[in-house]
Amino acid sequence: MWPEIEQLARAARDTDILGLVDEPGRAAAFSVRFDGMLFDYSKTALGLEARAALIRLAGTCDLAARRAAMFAGEPINQTEGRAVLHTALRNLTGGPVMVDGRDIMPGIRETRARMAAFAGDIRAGRITGAGGPISDVVNIGIGGSHLGPEMATLALAPCHDGPRCHFVSNVDGADIADTLAGLDPGRTLVIVASKTFITIETMTNAATARDWMARAVDDPGAQFVAVSSAPERTADWGIAPERVFGFGDYVGGRYSVWGPIGLPVMIAIGPERFGEFLAGAEAMDRHFQEAPPLENMPVMLALVGIWHHQGCGYATRAVLPYDQRLRRLPAYLQQLEMESNGKGVTMEGAPLERSSGPVVWGEPGTNGQHAFYQLIHQGTAVVPCEFILAATGHEPDLAHHHRLLVANCLAQSEALMRGRSMDEAREMMRAAGFDGADLERQAAHRVFPGNRPSTTLICDRLTPRRLGQILALYEHRVFVEGVILGINSFDQWGVELGKVLAQEMEPLLDGGDTSGKDGSTRALVEFVRAAR
Ligand code: F6P
Repeated sequence: MWPEIEQLARAARDTDILGLVDEPGRAAAFSVRFDGMLFDYSKTALGLEARAALIRLAGTCDLAARRAAMFAGEPINQTEGRAVLHTALRNLTGGPVMVDGRDIMPGIRETRARMAAFAGDIRAGRITGAGGPISDVVNIGIGGSHLGPEMATLALAPCHDGPRCHFVSNVDGADIADTLAGLDPGRTLVIVASKTFITIETMTNAATARDWMARAVDDPGAQFVAVSSAPERTADWGIAPERVFGFGDYVGGRYSVWGPIGLPVMIAIGPERFGEFLAGAEAMDRHFQEAPPLENMPVMLALVGIWHHQGCGYATRAVLPYDQRLRRLPAYLQQLEMESNGKGVTMEGAPLERSSGPVVWGEPGTNGQHAFYQLIHQGTAVVPCEFILAATGHEPDLAHHHRLLVANCLAQSEALMRGRSMDEAREMMRAAGFDGADLERQAAHRVFPGNRPSTTLICDRLTPRRLGQILALYEHRVFVEGVILGINSFDQWGVELGKVLAQEMEPLLDGGDTSGKDGSTRALVEFVRAAR
């Protein structure tokens, strides 16, 4: 299959996307609709033949069987011997989910009920701090224990009616210092969020927060809760079991916002709205399992991704939400996609024969337009762009802002595709009074090559339900791409080496023996020692 796809991708380099989208029915045929959302991939060079080949490729990789295995709780995360069941956290209406012969749903429901009761008590002021009702929540976590809750809390700001939420992740003391400055320790709740409860950044920040609170409050432990899969470690750290919200090791860090890691989101928007967020994801799960490939949004999003990266060879993928409240979505998707699919070997341990996942990056529009879009439009590298947009905003008094936002988003995908020819540029410059060699030179700078692919994911309004759908859509996209590449999307061994070396490095900064280090690293250590 791959040679055929690569050959079709080579041929598609000369395809005129504008010519394609003008074909009658193209927009409808190259898009997927589901539950208030439209995924449009008509502005790509993907044609009928290539699309059919990609769908066949997914079939030859046993996508349907692997998907069934994931939802059934089989240990598809083979390098860690674990099931992959973040979907169970949002299984609101389905039946039992078995892991090792045991139904995990009663435990999940019980934990969610405890979270809801706790969030309700915090929001209503029934649980207070030493100085009164909780006014601020500080979530301490990193990676999957940070990016999801931070991103979702920001995204759902219009529903926010609980205490203020803050997020500390970086071991750089600046992060916690700036966050705690100005907070009242007597009215602050700290959530220590760490699946393993050994992550050095999180445990360092948690200890600092505890010291900060202990200076002002008699019983700081009463204002700490833990979210973790390691109850013995949370107990050692001094957090009472009733203040610990656990989840199973079948939930990977970057897939964990749906359960206790989402506690700050639940406190911010309330358990009911959090339930809508889960319901959106659950609806996407069902759609992913039931819809045929052509009508299946995650499958088609994944196949477009495979087409652009492994097929056409475009190295990166820009995620461009035209939504200021989705400003952390690119960072969230960076972890989701790059930690999941940035792998070098297949499930069997053999080297990958083709490129793994692309570099994912982005910023919200319209800001990016005034920064890096120059390269996207006129640079020599083709960057497939994924626009994300809600048709309506949350500020009825500012509808004119949203109209401009929408117009800009739609204009960008059109501009990328349409471009501006040399003849059009010449005409422009002639009208501006240029002629001769000067006209030619000036016109050349104003040419846009065009024919640049983009997709647009548009929903009616960014509600908790829609956010749940969008995140589950991307999770399943990552899964499909991983299956097609034959990799394990659910481990992350690539983060280990740096952690080990950092542990070795720390004592060297205080004068330890650097003779085992390379010349460059030794010189850097010496600079740090001299500067301290
Ligand atoms: O270092 C990578 C990682 O393991 C991520 O996969 C994870 O989301 C993050 O660290 C945080 O881990 P934990 O929740 O165990 O603190």
